[in-house]
Amino acid sequence: SAAEKDGYASFMLKEIAEQPKAVADTLLGRIDGSGSLTLDEVRIPANVLREVDKVVIVACGTAFHAGLIAKYAIEHWTRIPCEVELASEFRYRDPILDQQTLVVAISQSGETMDTLMALRHAREQGAKVLAICNTNGSTIPRESDAVLYTHAGPEVAVASTKAFLTQLVACYLVALYLGQVRGTKWADEIRAVVRDLSSVSGAVDRVLGTMGPVRELARSLAAKDTVLFLGRHVGYPVALEGALKLKELAYMHAEGFAAGELKHGPIALIEDDLPVVVVVPSPRGRSVLHDKIVSNIQEIRARGARTIVIAEEGDEAVVPYADHLIRIPATPTLLQPLVATVPLQVFACELATARGNEVDQPRNLAKSVTVE
Ligand code: AGP
Repeated sequence: SAAEKDGYASFMLKEIAEQPKAVADTLLGRIDGSGSLTLDEVRIPANVLREVDKVVIVACGTAFHAGLIAKYAIEHWTRIPCEVELASEFRYRDPILDQQTLVVAISQSGETMDTLMALRHAREQGAKVLAICNTNGSTIPRESDAVLYTHAGPEVAVASTKAFLTQLVACYLVALYLGQVRGTKWADEIRAVVRDLSSVSGAVDRVLGTMGPVRELARSLAAKDTVLFLGRHVGYPVALEGALKLKELAYMHAEGFAAGELKHGPIALIEDDLPVVVVVPSPRGRSVLHDKIVSNIQEIRARGARTIVIAEEGDEAVVPYADHLIRIPATPTLLQPLVATVPLQVFACELATARGNEVDQPRNLAKSVTVE
């Protein structure tokens, strides 16, 4: 009903707007001012976590994209090798798992059959399973060794938004916690990131306050057939997520690519006035990647693409090549997906609405997929 939507035109818009709170709630009680983490729910004993020699993440759809981003954080902060696999593919390839494998199953609903079957398979092989889940008492956490709940609140719209941001937060917490328990040499960085995480909810709020031009742009593209998305590093899964949102909501051909792959094929798709959304990494820190992606933007623009550039405030290098520029607040490299995803959600929601689609209930889709 209209009352349940709190005055928003759709649950999706309401849930997009709830993201700053969802992020803050997921951090609440888990990080403190001194930069340390308390994850009491992770009932896997510290000595077991210290023995972990491989992390395997299984998930579907948007939760899989959160897993792809988690890999960067886990490997960087813990130096434990991490694989990410679509839950629907996982058990069919006879994966190598044992008591030293930590499997992380990410699921908003906690009822996704593909993810459930993957975690059952992992436990049969002796692996420990940690669930990241938004639904209290659902099947996936019940069947796992431990659970870290995301506190997004109920997500009604079929397209996942606030659950995704909180899945990212939970993944960062797990990565940092593993680093903390194992006492890696990154302890100082871990403390700094914990502090950065506490300001991220405010950054998401600021992004939401600047979405007017993104909505206008989305409406102007309603008659297009295709939109491409490019990113690198953690921006690559963000590009995949932007494309998935557009497919499910606008029923458009949308594809995400790693920007470095352009020259290996996808650049052949570029034609006059094709909208291409590019997620630009921060010019600070990994500046090599930043410069490479600026060249990619130049290359596609020279071939006629209409460039829609998502870049950090103060990044002036992108300005000459951006037909449309969407600014996001500066964040540490690994945390950028928390702010960079938000404009893509708004973009897909608005474009779908302009095409006359029902955003909360896209055709052919169900909120939770309980069949394999
Ligand atoms: C997201 O927008 C999708 N509707 C879908 O990909 C979803 O993320 C996927 O089905 C996994 O669901 P879960 O998180 O409930 O397991």
